Amino acid sequence: MKQQIRDMLSLLRRHPRELIRVDRNLRKLSRLIRYPVQIRRRHLRSRTGPVRLEEFQRLSPISREFGFDRGQPIDRYYIERLLARHSKYIRGHVLEIKDASYTRRYGGDRVSVSDVLDIAEDNWRATIVADLTNASHVPSNTFDCIIFTQTLHFIYDVHSAVHTLHRILKPGGTLLATFPGTNRTSCRKFSGYYYWCFTQLAVQRLFEEYFPAKNVEVEGYGNVLAAIAFLDGLAAEELLQEELDYHDPDYAVVITLKAIKPESRS
Ligand SMILES: C[S@@+](CC[C@H](N)C(=O)[O-])C[C@H]1O[C@@H](n2cnc3c(N)ncnc32)[C@H](O)[C@@H]1O
Repeated sequence: MKQQIRDMLSLLRRHPRELIRVDRNLRKLSRLIRYPVQIRRRHLRSRTGPVRLEEFQRLSPISREFGFDRGQPIDRYYIERLLARHSKYIRGHVLEIKDASYTRRYGGDRVSVSDVLDIAEDNWRATIVADLTNASHVPSNTFDCIIFTQTLHFIYDVHSAVHTLHRILKPGGTLLATFPGTNRTSCRKFSGYYYWCFTQLAVQRLFEEYFPAKNVEVEGYGNVLAAIAFLDGLAAEELLQEELDYHDPDYAVVITLKAIKPESRS
């Protein structure tokens, strides 16, 4: 390096004009090389102020574990908010998918009977083995509450599954459900049956085919920051409470549903 500087200085002494010309051309070339990056930065700054593009220039997420390896997954933060808000409906005979952890946590003493349904025969927690798309052996009008979190995206035939959920719910019973919104689109563990991500509109229309519209409440939880953090595999603890709680339905991480089956069919 020192030698190069010495050479440049001696060149400058001998041919000052020549060197200035070379230097100008080099600068022009370097401007051309940087051009696309500058355009992208200018574009980002034009409406929102400076963005540190480098932070996003990764082709892999920070983690592929949904946040489980760093704390509470961001989607779970929203799912649990729904269940806490509507915990009074988790009562009587309650059905949950895969295990009864939310039934216990949010239902407590209000729960008289707890059932767990799964399509997987090897799930030792399951008291009912059934495919929700074809579950005629599960009796109709049975459950006061069904906790149906993060499951519908694993079922291709969503209409048949929702038909079953409505059928097995008691009149007056409540379905509390959540669905992935802005989410990754596949993961190795569930690669054979990871079918869908949902929008509020899709959930609303789908469930209004079975429940009266006035009994269907659909919401989106999350915002663009929570969505980016969730896609990157960060945990809820890595965002501030107000960042998690800011509500922007255009970038919902989780879509939630509360649907009540009418006492008499309407
Ligand atoms: C990721 S778990 C979601 C439930 C869990 N309580 C939760 O909140 O994460 C998805 C469960 O749905 C089950 N499942 C997938 N397809 C199903 C179907 N057609 N009928 C019933 N259960 C199904 C899977 O076996 C799995 O146990």
